[in-house]
Amino acid sequence: MTELGPVAWPPAPIRTERLVLRGSEAGDRAAFVELFASPEVHTYLGGPRPRDELERMVPAVPGRRPGFFVIDLDGAMIGMVKLDRHDAESPGHIRPDLGEAELGYLILPSAWGRGYGAEACAAVLGWFADALPGTSVVLRTQTANERSMRLAEKLGFTEVERFEDFGAEQWFGVWSSVTSSG
Ligand SMILES: CC(C)(COP(=O)(O)OP(=O)(O)OC[C@H]1O[C@@H](n2cnc3c(N)ncnc32)[C@H](O)[C@@H]1OP(=O)(O)O)[C@@H](O)C(=O)NCCC(=O)NCCS
Repeated sequence: MTELGPVAWPPAPIRTERLVLRGSEAGDRAAFVELFASPEVHTYLGGPRPRDELERMVPAVPGRRPGFFVIDLDGAMIGMVKLDRHDAESPGHIRPDLGEAELGYLILPSAWGRGYGAEACAAVLGWFADALPGTSVVLRTQTANERSMRLAEKLGFTEVERFEDFGAEQWFGVWSSVTSSG
């Protein structure tokens, strides 16, 4: 994944009603391994990676790059939200004409279904709208991934197209701070 554009990093932690969005820290490593090893989290993402491989490969401070936020609930990581650069170098299906950043989100299953995904992503999109005003954000997700589809809709993403990839129907949507209440 290519890094996001020229943004100051890490930003001051973003506080929402229940969460803190912040850059990653060494203390998050175990939660990252849980997240990447989780079969539930990777149902629509090509399957999890083996835990022993993750224990060896995950860096001491995972995800330390511009646009990569840890979702912190009461001092513990429950997931991550990231914005990566979306351009001709991006893997998979792209529409470089549509957006310069791509949103991704992963939350530990024990924290699903309580609105944390929506709360965290809305805060990150709000940060992005201030950091790089007028820049659109794209999102790719499997249409079978109902939770993710609902989240995309709730955040204000609108459908651009659907396409087949990895043997499944994929949804491609766009969000803009200009056209969305954010
Ligand atoms: C997608 C994901 C981040 C959502 O996190 P979350 O904290 O559960 O999200 P929210 O609680 O904000 O809920 C999002 C929507 O899903 C709905 N939802 C909850 N459980 C659901 C279920 N079993 N089936 C369908 N929708 C469901 C919620 O009701 C909400 O929609 P609503 O507000 O319109 O009711 C989380 O499920 C996840 O990490 N999934 C695995 C990773 C993944 O697939 N990421 C997408 C790659 S881009």
